Amino acid sequence: MSNHDTALDRRDFVALSSALGLAAFVAPGCASTVVSGADEPKPLKVALIGCGGRGSGAANQALKADKGVILWAVADAFPDRMDACLKQFDKHPAKDRVQVPAERRFAGFDGYKKAIASGVDAVLLCSAPHFRPMHLAESVAAGKHIFCEKPMFVDAPGYRSVCESVKAARAKNLNLVSGFCWRRSAPERATFAELEKGTLGSVMAMYGCYYTGPLGTKKREQGWSDMEFQVRNWQHFNWLSGDQLVEQAVHSIDKINWAFRNEPPASAVGMGGRQLREPIPERGDVYDHFAVVYEWADGRRAFLNCRQEPDCYFENTDWIAGTKGQCFINGWGPTHWMKDPAGKVLWEYPADGPKPDMYQAEHDELFRAIRAGTVINDGDWMVTSNMMAVLGRMAAYSGQKVTWEQACASQESLSPPQYIMGPLEMPVEKKPGQYKVT
Ligand SMILES: NC(=O)c1ccc[n+]([C@@H]2O[C@H](COP(=O)([O-])OP(=O)(O)OC[C@H]3O[C@@H](n4cnc5c(N)ncnc54)[C@H](O)[C@@H]3O)[C@@H](O)[C@H]2O)c1
Repeated sequence: MSNHDTALDRRDFVALSSALGLAAFVAPGCASTVVSGADEPKPLKVALIGCGGRGSGAANQALKADKGVILWAVADAFPDRMDACLKQFDKHPAKDRVQVPAERRFAGFDGYKKAIASGVDAVLLCSAPHFRPMHLAESVAAGKHIFCEKPMFVDAPGYRSVCESVKAARAKNLNLVSGFCWRRSAPERATFAELEKGTLGSVMAMYGCYYTGPLGTKKREQGWSDMEFQVRNWQHFNWLSGDQLVEQAVHSIDKINWAFRNEPPASAVGMGGRQLREPIPERGDVYDHFAVVYEWADGRRAFLNCRQEPDCYFENTDWIAGTKGQCFINGWGPTHWMKDPAGKVLWEYPADGPKPDMYQAEHDELFRAIRAGTVINDGDWMVTSNMMAVLGRMAAYSGQKVTWEQACASQESLSPPQYIMGPLEMPVEKKPGQYKVT
């Protein structure tokens, strides 16, 4: 099977099974962490919305995080995705806590409303990104605790909607844990804490990169409407995914935002294009490479390169220049160090330091907080990271310098005229110099 053919290639060259949480399905000894004992905790019912690779992983991690978690309802645009997801739990050590009969499997664009209203305590929002703002707004309105995958939105109207949901979740004391998984990785937390201590002085510049291969595609089947074809190939359509920069490289942008202490840049300039995307409908309208320069009001800069092209060099690391030296982060390494200009090591994450699964940590923290009655709300920084990615895409698509204010105020909605499995125009790639940010 070629790299292009498999949906599982999308989490690339790095710890794929860990990323999707699949390894944990079969890990020996994990039964002891999930099987309820005599002291059975109060059930915490969970709905999964978006039953693909990440949703399956998130459900597994939720089940492992807390012995009282019950997977109670699922929703997906397509019934076959729900069935395939649930099938994976047939041999799961906590299969008794997967209680999703046919009447709690909700298909279609409105399925999420029924899943949220099915009597659950928490939701896992893992669908294609386009729909996240509406899924999040409904979850908050219904008073549910939330695990919310990245990206949280694909356009500026989505940004404004998610900002409102973040505020409303805070007012209601709801937990809102984002899928920016590096924020819950122990070596990254240690690195950014060291940065905060001033070991590197002040951050002056940062370079992040996400060089990887193309994502898999789904060939059109007989009977699929235009809408179904696009949603099944959601990674390849800007309106659904936000493009590669927003969908995937946003992880690297989140680390830039972390290093720049959640202070948004003043502007961005960028470029990109579709160098090697085959001219087939499955490849939609997204670019296969981007290069973005973010600039802050005081002149500091951050640089982000990403690529999804076959047979090229792969790398997913970060580099920070401070007034007292440099920092290198290879999360997958794991290698994390800081050195002064003479090359003397100022700090490094110990080779034998703890490196627990960051995807599991997201759910451990969420369910621990729900049990303890405490509140985690990742909202403020998650919307900034996500909006920086949208800003970068706007700069690259337009070929113009775009300001933060301009991007946040943009009225351009990527939504289709209606959400029905019917006809839908094929979008065309944006041409720099022609496309305008409106
Ligand atoms: N944090 C990470 O490292 C990480 C890793 C992988 C994916 N993700 C994110 O998780 C999300 C899902 O990615 P994936 O890899 O699981 O993709 P996937 O294609 O395997 O799954 C997405 C699922 O969402 C469903 N869906 C689409 N529109 C829907 C709608 N309107 N309502 C309900 N369901 C809908 C699809 O049918 C599909 O089953 C994406 O936002 C992706 O960026 C994050």
